[in-house]
Amino acid sequence: MDAEVFLTYSNVSDADLRGRTVVVIDVLRACSTIVTALSRGARAVLPVPDMAEAGKIAGNLDPDVYRLGGERNGEKIEGYHLGNSPLDYTQDEVENRDVILNTTNGTRALSHATEAEHLVAGCFLNADRVVDFVQEVDDAVTIVCAGRQNRLALEDTLCAGLLLDRLWSSETPEVVTDSAHTAFTLYDTDRNHLSSALRGANHAEELVRQGREEDVTYCLQLDACPVLPYYTDNRLLAVDGPPADESSD
Ligand code: MLT
Repeated sequence: MDAEVFLTYSNVSDADLRGRTVVVIDVLRACSTIVTALSRGARAVLPVPDMAEAGKIAGNLDPDVYRLGGERNGEKIEGYHLGNSPLDYTQDEVENRDVILNTTNGTRALSHATEAEHLVAGCFLNADRVVDFVQEVDDAVTIVCAGRQNRLALEDTLCAGLLLDRLWSSETPEVVTDSAHTAFTLYDTDRNHLSSALRGANHAEELVRQGREEDVTYCLQLDACPVLPYYTDNRLLAVDGPPADESSD
């Protein structure tokens, strides 16, 4: 399984993604929130890059059929129903509703990656599900870490490394790019004390300072929520596997 890894999304071009199977990772917290919302029965999650886009989509929907969620500086955006804590996304809030999600890095990274042939959202909660999907559809993958403010985020890089470890367990890659090597090596160094390494990540520490330790604990659970958010038609849907024409051969 050949793999390319981008440690932040900001320099990724459409050409880097076109025709590729792409996994966008934002462990803290956007992708963990997306996986959770879909597991609690949301019909779809619409990732948007900014307030304007969120408002435009919401303005065209019946107020009862959607929830507007997201954060700036970790805090719920004024006027939104929900913040970006996955724990906000209860069945009561999201079942049979669309979630319009607007976050600083994660939903921007997803909006940036829509040229992909296949685009899925990944995190620790659904790592196994993502690995199964990638192995089913392709022999190559591009992993895009959301990062933070154009910088590497340790939790996203370690999650990328874990995916590579699992993808490479059955098939050694022919080519290992420098960034894939970096993500894998960091993960390999920390694999036996992953939880403490992750808790020491800047973003995890910041969330704890904001009183959101529960979010950190929740988001760091491995394979706890086996949902696959697959991007199609401007939205992420929970799917069982690849689109029909991909799985038939
Ligand atoms: C983001 O998209 O930047 C995050 O998910 C931020 C957060 O929720 O703290």
